[in-house]
Amino acid sequence: MKAEDLLEIIKSRRSIRRYKSLPVEEEKLRLILEAARWAPSAGNLQPWHFLIVRDKRLREMLAEAAYGQTWMVEAPVHIVVLADPERSGYRYGDRGRALYCIQDTALAIQNIMLMAHALGLGTCFVGAFDERSVSKILCIPKGLRPVAIITIGYPAESPEPRPRRPLDDIVSRESFC
Ligand SMILES: Cc1cc2nc3c(=O)[nH]c(=O)nc-3n(C[C@H](O)[C@H](O)[C@H](O)COP(=O)(O)O)c2cc1C
Repeated sequence: MKAEDLLEIIKSRRSIRRYKSLPVEEEKLRLILEAARWAPSAGNLQPWHFLIVRDKRLREMLAEAAYGQTWMVEAPVHIVVLADPERSGYRYGDRGRALYCIQDTALAIQNIMLMAHALGLGTCFVGAFDERSVSKILCIPKGLRPVAIITIGYPAESPEPRPRRPLDDIVSRESFC
């Protein structure tokens, strides 16, 4: 694959909040999870777990736990991404628990979103939700922390790109001294 093709995939991805009422094929979901599995992680500890939710009642409850983001229900699949802080903490202490496991799951999530997009699917990273409610709804084992709900489905909208800050504003060279 050419580098420009990858950049095109990265730049054309959008957060999708309207979905067609079409199911997501199990084979596509498998490819998406395969992409997640190949994300890098601190010490290669892979401190993540992916909970696939297709059940409509559960999706409704998740949308409610996400402070009433009712559009989420339209997405036929939710992937609840769970971090396992102790898996990272066991080797790296507090830095592993508070930072590495979150960074690792974020990388897996980006792989999920880009792979889904490359397969013609839309996604949205939902981070605004009540963690305790989500854990309760899904009976998430103690020790696993829900860090994101990724909605997935066939897009029923094609939003304009959201603006990005210019490179000059966000890049410095050598040091701030
Ligand atoms: C950590 C994080 C949390 C987010 N939480 C939400 C959310 O709760 N609801 C939502 O609709 N979008 C959420 N988003 C999506 C952002 O609004 C979106 O990525 C941003 O506006 C840029 O738009 P784009 O993804 O289409 O480029 C979240 C994104 C990130 C990275």
